[in-house]
Amino acid sequence: MEIIRMENISKIYPGTVALKGVDFTLNKQEIVSLLGENGAGKTTLMKILYGMTAPSSGRIFYKGEPVRFKRPIDAIEKGICMVHQHFMLVPAFTVVENIIAGSEPGSNIFLDKKKARQEVIDLISRFKFNVDPDAKVEKLSVGEQQRVEILKVLYRKADVIILDEPTAVLTPHEVDDLFAVLRRLKDEGKSIIIITHKLKETKEIADRVVVLRDGNLINDNVDPRKVSTKELSEMMVGHEVNLQARRPAKHIGEVCLKVENLTVEEDGKEKVKNVSFAIHHGEILGIAGIEGNGQTQIIEALTGLRKPKSMKLTLDGKEVTGKSSDFLKAGIGHVPEDRLSMGLVKEMSVMENMILGYHRESEFCSKKGLLLKKQISQYAEKLKKDFLVKAASIYSAVSSLSGGNQQKIIISRVFSREPKAIIVAHPTRGVDIGATEYIHNQLIELRDRGAAVLLISADLDEVRALSDRILVLYEGEIVSESMPGELSEVEMGLLMTGGNYMVEEGKQRD
Ligand SMILES: Nc1ncnc2c1ncn2[C@@H]1O[C@H](COP(=O)(O)OP(=O)(O)OP(=O)(O)O)[C@@H](O)[C@H]1O
Ligand SMILES: [Mg+2]
Repeated sequence: MEIIRMENISKIYPGTVALKGVDFTLNKQEIVSLLGENGAGKTTLMKILYGMTAPSSGRIFYKGEPVRFKRPIDAIEKGICMVHQHFMLVPAFTVVENIIAGSEPGSNIFLDKKKARQEVIDLISRFKFNVDPDAKVEKLSVGEQQRVEILKVLYRKADVIILDEPTAVLTPHEVDDLFAVLRRLKDEGKSIIIITHKLKETKEIADRVVVLRDGNLINDNVDPRKVSTKELSEMMVGHEVNLQARRPAKHIGEVCLKVENLTVEEDGKEKVKNVSFAIHHGEILGIAGIEGNGQTQIIEALTGLRKPKSMKLTLDGKEVTGKSSDFLKAGIGHVPEDRLSMGLVKEMSVMENMILGYHRESEFCSKKGLLLKKQISQYAEKLKKDFLVKAASIYSAVSSLSGGNQQKIIISRVFSREPKAIIVAHPTRGVDIGATEYIHNQLIELRDRGAAVLLISADLDEVRALSDRILVLYEGEIVSESMPGELSEVEMGLLMTGGNYMVEEGKQRD
């Protein structure tokens, strides 16, 4: 039975045609995977369905009736819910407060709180979500926030659930859990649309695949059981992509970045416990681990954003201390975890964001402190071209870019400054496979030019494909060090969840 029909949908933004006459349908009890490169129009199509933005033309039918949702609340009332690519939680509210806020229009949030809290607790245990219902959202990791967003949808008992890249922030194990939840929801009669850049996931969960390219519908009836991931990627980007091929380091040099006795305390608890490691010039050190095991704290300490309880950090033998700007100046680059709150100023242009933090350098700024407009715009044009950033122009506001293209701006900014060492968190989160391949190549080239790279990623495939050495972080401690290929995915998964897999002695390297 058809539950949603979108007919001939177009969306024109100033300077961009995001959708060109796209038809889309969803049936009851169906899981559809929406595929397409960064900027293909996936989020826009879903925002139109959810009443967040109006189509320039086209019609929408819900359960056979023509509908026109002016605001998301209209869609929610009909039973359509969306989990966004960028979370929309209130940081100062608790998990429960976030879940119940806005879900029952007209009701008193405080009166219902006790009953609602119990309902939320039931949902958490029913779906085995590991979150504290009374924790403030600002204290949660990105992965945990994701679970809150999904809980919100479950709480609202939606019939149609739209998930915009829900797995980008999850570990393989968490993805399995999420997919179990989705299958269960499907069995209960729900219909689901899922956007993901991971083709493996599409094949695993989808009943049908819909492919968009450049605002056009390419195919709306692909059977995921009948195509390979290779064929899917070709459909999306028009050429073959291989992300798994390893390219080991050629020249591992002297120690570059050395971290000794790093301990971070938060709310009276040790989140990072006396961690030490060294990264050599020309080496990628990967940290695998489930989010919330100290990654955020390590990143913040190594980039000067947080003062740890103890740490000695040296770069080429010289101690680095001070503020984050001192770390940057010393030559430690940083691709942050959360692009919207830390990496970008959304209201500013693509060009301004490309030199953010570097705008005082002589290349961009005269001795008198005047910005060198021509040099900056040429530089931005070059980065836009090199890093395949899809934007109407370098003067467009970053807020108008698709998620993956926002990420490319941060990557282009940090990689092109030739840092001595670089702390890279989830570099390809939300980035399509074509651009992921590109970013991986850039990261490897940076390494081969001698940079020391610390790669922190929730994507185990990515850590395994790129790293020259891998640490596993569990509850703030390094529980294993191995060479790529030495441990299987299952063994690493076990270590990441605190399992007691015994690593043989004698395989470690300084
Ligand atoms: N508010 C806006 N103003 C102007 N242009 C916009 C706006 N929102 C989206 N666009 C443009 O519309 C196009 C489609 O964007 P959309 O966010 O739908 O892509 P997407 O397929 O979701 O990509 P991604 O995989 O990167 O999330 C992009 O070129 C984007 O720059
Ligand atoms: Mg999107």
